Amino acid sequence: MGQSLRELANKRGIYIGAAVNVDLLAKDREYKGLLQKEFNMVVPENVMKWKHIRPDKNTFSFEKADELVAFAEGNKMVVRGHTLVWGTEMPDWFVQLNSEEMYKSLEEHINKVAGRYKKKIYAWDVINEALTDEGEFNNDCLTRTIGPKYLELSLKLARETDPNAKLFWNEWGADCLNKRSDKFYELVKELLSKKIPLDGVGFQMHTGLGRPKTTTPLPDVENVRKNFERFEKLGLEIHITEMDVQIQDGQGSWNERLDQEADFYRDILKMTLDISNFKAIVLWGVNDKYSWISNWLTHNEDAPLLFDKNNKPKPAYFAIKEVLEKGK
Ligand code: G3I
Repeated sequence: MGQSLRELANKRGIYIGAAVNVDLLAKDREYKGLLQKEFNMVVPENVMKWKHIRPDKNTFSFEKADELVAFAEGNKMVVRGHTLVWGTEMPDWFVQLNSEEMYKSLEEHINKVAGRYKKKIYAWDVINEALTDEGEFNNDCLTRTIGPKYLELSLKLARETDPNAKLFWNEWGADCLNKRSDKFYELVKELLSKKIPLDGVGFQMHTGLGRPKTTTPLPDVENVRKNFERFEKLGLEIHITEMDVQIQDGQGSWNERLDQEADFYRDILKMTLDISNFKAIVLWGVNDKYSWISNWLTHNEDAPLLFDKNNKPKPAYFAIKEVLEKGK
C-alpha cells in the first residue's frame, strides 16, 4: 500500500487522528496495528470524559486514560484530550451544585486532569458543544448555574494548569456557515478580544449522505471553506475533530455510496490544504465495525470511516491518501 497516511501526514506537517476505544487496544490486535501504522494523533473516544474519569464526586479513575496516553507516547503519537468541560454531559452530582460549588468542582477537575497529563497533551478540548443549532447557549447546568462565563473560567483554569497544551473549543454542527457557527465565531472573537487563552477551534464534522436523521447533511465544501477562513483570520489553529460520514441514508448501491463518501473526504481535505492554520483531521473511530454510528446512534448498518469492518481500506482511505500524497 505504499506509504501510510501517518507518514504522508508527517511530511505535510499535519496530524491524522482517530478516536480510540481504549478497551480494544488489548483485545483487537488488528485495530491496534492500524492505529499504530496509519495515525499520528489519538483522541480518547470516551475515557477522559467526566462520567468515566469521575465515577463519583470523590473518585478519579485514570486507568484507561493513562493507558491511552502511554500508548501514544510509546508510538510517537500526539494526544487530543477530550474533554474537560461538556455542559450537557456532566454527572448528576455535578448538575445539582450551586454556582460556587460548581466552579470549585471545575477547578478541582481541571487541575487534577489537565495536571496529570501536563506536557503530554497536544491540545485539550477544554469546551465541548456549548451551543444549539439556533446559535443559543445550550440550556445545560453550566449555562444555567454559572452562566456563559463558564467558558472563560474553564479556559483560564486550563491554561494555568498546563501552559503547554493548545486550548480548543470543539463544536458540533458548526462546520459550515450557519446560525451556530455565526455565534461560535462571534463568541470566539469576544474571548480573544478579552485575551482569554484560546488557541484553536474544532469542527466535528459528523455528517452523512442523503438526509441523515441524526447528524447534519453533507455541507457544501465551499461553504465550509468560507467558515474556516474566518476563523483562520483570527489566528486560531483549526482541526476537524470528529469526522465521520454516514451512508445509510444515501442514494445508489452501497458501492456507489462508498465512492460518494470518498469524494466528500477528498474534497474536504483538499480544501483544508488552503487553510494555513489547519493542523489536524481526526476520524471519529478507526474502522466501521466499532463506530458509534451503528453501535449506538442509529443501530443501522453503516460505513462512516476509512477502514471497513475487516480493517480493509475503503475508497475513502485512498481518497485521503491521494490528497496527502499529491496535494490539490
Ligand atoms: O458500554 C456501554 C454498554 O455496556 C451498554 O450496554 C450501552 C447501553 O447504552 O452503553 C454503552 O456505553 C455507551 C458508549 O457510548 C458505547 O460506546 C454509553 O452509554 C454512551 O454514553 C457512549 O456514547 C458516547 C457519546 O459520545 C456520549 O458520551 C459515544 O461512544 C461517543 O462516540 C460520543 O462521542 C461524541 C463526542 O464525545 C463529542 N461529539 C459528539 C460525539 C458523538 O456523539
